[in-house]
Amino acid sequence: MAGLCNVRILLLWVGIISLVNCQGSQDSSDKTGNGPATLTTPPPTTSIQTDSDNKTSPAVTQLNTTVTPTTQAPPPQCSYTVTPIKFGFQIDITSSTTFDYTININEKGQRKSMVQHSSQSSSHEIKHLKPCTEYEHSVTFLDSAGRENIHCNSTEKDNKTTTTIEMSKDDIKDATSCIPGYVCYQTDWDITSLQSTPNKIQDERCGNKTLCVKLGYNDICSDFTTTITSSTCRNFSFNSTKSISIDFLNPSEINQPAPTELPAKINPELPPNCKNLSIDYSCREHGRVNESKKLSELEPFTNYSCIGQIKDNDGNVKNTTPVHVNIECDFDFKTEKSSTNTSIKLSWTTTSKNCQHVPQNISYNCSCRPPSSDHKHKIAANKRGTCTVTGLQPYTDYTCEVQPIYNNKIVAKSNSVTEKTESGIPDPVTNLKVTVPEHNVIHVKCDHSKSPNGPENKCRVRLLTGGVIVNKTDTPNSDLEFRDLSYSTTYTVKVTAFNGRFESEPKTNTVHTQYNDKAVIGVLIFLIISVVVAVVVYKLYIKKRRESRNGVNEGVMLESTAIYMNVPPREWHHKESH
Ligand SMILES: *[C@@H]1O[C@H](CO)[C@@H](O)[C@H](O)[C@H]1NC(C)=O
Ligand SMILES: *[C@@H]1O[C@H](CO)[C@@H](O)[C@H](O)[C@H]1NC(C)=O
Ligand SMILES: *[C@@H]1O[C@H](CO)[C@@H](O)[C@H](O)[C@H]1NC(C)=O
Ligand SMILES: *[C@@H]1O[C@H](CO)[C@@H](O)[C@H](O)[C@H]1NC(C)=O
Ligand SMILES: *[C@@H]1O[C@H](CO)[C@@H](O)[C@H](O)[C@H]1NC(C)=O
Ligand SMILES: *[C@@H]1O[C@H](CO)[C@@H](O)[C@H](O)[C@H]1NC(C)=O
Ligand SMILES: *[C@@H]1O[C@H](CO)[C@@H](O)[C@H](O)[C@H]1NC(C)=O
Ligand SMILES: *[C@@H]1O[C@H](CO)[C@@H](O)[C@H](O)[C@H]1NC(C)=O
Ligand SMILES: *[C@@H]1O[C@H](CO)[C@@H](O)[C@H](O)[C@H]1NC(C)=O
Ligand SMILES: *[C@@H]1O[C@H](CO)[C@@H](O)[C@H](O)[C@H]1NC(C)=O
Ligand SMILES: *[C@@H]1O[C@H](CO)[C@@H](O)[C@H](O)[C@H]1NC(C)=O
Ligand SMILES: *[C@@H]1O[C@H](CO)[C@@H](O)[C@H](O)[C@H]1NC(C)=O
Repeated sequence: MAGLCNVRILLLWVGIISLVNCQGSQDSSDKTGNGPATLTTPPPTTSIQTDSDNKTSPAVTQLNTTVTPTTQAPPPQCSYTVTPIKFGFQIDITSSTTFDYTININEKGQRKSMVQHSSQSSSHEIKHLKPCTEYEHSVTFLDSAGRENIHCNSTEKDNKTTTTIEMSKDDIKDATSCIPGYVCYQTDWDITSLQSTPNKIQDERCGNKTLCVKLGYNDICSDFTTTITSSTCRNFSFNSTKSISIDFLNPSEINQPAPTELPAKINPELPPNCKNLSIDYSCREHGRVNESKKLSELEPFTNYSCIGQIKDNDGNVKNTTPVHVNIECDFDFKTEKSSTNTSIKLSWTTTSKNCQHVPQNISYNCSCRPPSSDHKHKIAANKRGTCTVTGLQPYTDYTCEVQPIYNNKIVAKSNSVTEKTESGIPDPVTNLKVTVPEHNVIHVKCDHSKSPNGPENKCRVRLLTGGVIVNKTDTPNSDLEFRDLSYSTTYTVKVTAFNGRFESEPKTNTVHTQYNDKAVIGVLIFLIISVVVAVVVYKLYIKKRRESRNGVNEGVMLESTAIYMNVPPREWHHKESH
């Protein structure tokens, strides 16, 4: 019993195979050892660990203490006493010399054993056993002659088994919860022999001395009773009722729907039995850890992480898991549009279903496609906005978009409208050719305007002489002839492109018609006739004069006068005779 040498206590699982070997040698030498029944079927050393997996059958404990003699002592003497104590046994070894002892504790009928080594004859406590359970035990040592597993004599003669004591309510103590959402109890008994209502869970986080039961969501803020019984001590029953505060709430079990509307609200599903909880969320923007915002201060289109602080009346505080919040406001546009020949003006009002107050610092980009030189306008506006996109082409179809912008980022869907710009001034006609194919005919030919900038593309031809418009014709063809014009006259041809609304800059050309060739021929014929008539008349006159000398005829005289009257003026006559 006295401390002779250095004490070394090791606790480990050891195969019984070696024990059996020893048993065999012992049987052959002194035949005093009565090994446990289980030793007749020796398992391999490694199989002991796998046996421990059999949860339905409790563990076996066996102790093997070997004492190595420090001095040569011919007949080694040793004996031991097993005393049941709380949570296990106390084993007192008495020996004449110091050896290396091996203590084996083995639950009766099981093959698993608990082994403890000791180099000193002394008192050892073996705990963590099952209550009300019969254990087999043996103490062996290795003597100086090298003989292994010499059995110490038990003071209880041939009895090699001892039963552990009853369990008491005091053996179970409250433990701090090793897992959120669980109620835990601690005991030094082997908890595999214990049962509980609700069912216990085994979790590595809690170690093998702690028994935990899971709380339901509805158990929070209520009185919760755990009953623990022992499968081995039939009479034992332990009841414990705890008032479960929100401290026991597992934050990850709280359902916190993320808000989708502004002003933001989070309505977590708190345990129904908790009547007077207050919950207060504070949010942080990613990257701005220092700035904390209330839910009411959240802005749209921004990522936040919000953590709620739950408080009850007793001052217990519990933080929730973070809720990720990013509220995307939708926008409904009511857009009006108007246009000139170079610009489109849009004016709109926006409403949002999920954002009561459309944020103040939202802005809009207006743009029209196909793009023009000056197509982007950023207009800061709140609900109501207008923008004018300028630099556009006349009479062209545009698709214009109003894109909401928040913090320089494109947000939400853009609103798109189509609009045609008004007609503008067309480009002038090209390749104007004015010819005079006949003496009083003018032919006009030109190419249509390349950009009519309006619904129509006509050539508007004006014919002027002396500053007076004598003809104005719109023609879809650019091929036109003016006939029956005055001869030998200067005409100005002015051609513009006409698009139904506007006329282009004119292209002008001036031409002269030629003399009247038909009139000249007529005059010549007349002259010839006149000369012929004159000659005839003259001859008649001469003849009459000769006759009047013989007797004057009044009638002929008159006829001669009438002929003179028909003769063209003298000037003319003179001119044509040229
Ligand atoms: C007892 O301990 C010795 C030495 O530690 C070991 O060799 C032997 O196998 C053990 N016997 C049993 C039955 O565990
Ligand atoms: C486990 O225990 C059950 C019942 O106690 C027994 O029938 C079975 O053989 C055991 N299995 C092993 C591997 O020990
Ligand atoms: C056990 O007791 C017997 C007599 O009862 C004795 O002969 C033997 O030496 C003892 N063994 C030991 C190891 O003490
Ligand atoms: C010896 O064991 C038997 C049953 O195994 C038991 O009835 C008896 O009381 C025990 N004796 C002592 C002294 O422990
Ligand atoms: C129980 O825990 C102790 C130490 O924490 C460890 O040595 C032992 O192997 C464990 N037992 C089981 C059955 O897990
Ligand atoms: C259980 O309790 C009853 C009486 O309360 C008693 O008679 C009985 O012996 C007890 N059983 C055990 C195993 O302690
Ligand atoms: C524990 O509670 C159960 C039911 O609530 C009851 O049947 C049992 O008698 C109680 N035991 C003790 C020791 O209070
Ligand atoms: C709830 O808490 C408020 C103060 O936090 C207290 O005035 C009120 O009485 C409580 N109500 C209940 C039903 O506990
Ligand atoms: C945040 O606050 C800490 C101290 O409160 C300060 O040292 C740190 O510079 C702050 N960071 C920012 C980004 O403001
Ligand atoms: C917000 O987070 C989502 C995903 O978590 C990511 O797709 C998005 O780009 C983030 N927005 C901003 C503005 O950081
Ligand atoms: C557009 O129309 C106005 C008259 O309404 C005109 O003065 C202007 O030159 C036109 N612009 C173009 C590019 O056609
Ligand atoms: C103008 O000229 C066109 C083409 O020669 C002709 O059809 C039209 O009658 C003329 N109009 C007038 C008013 O002389």
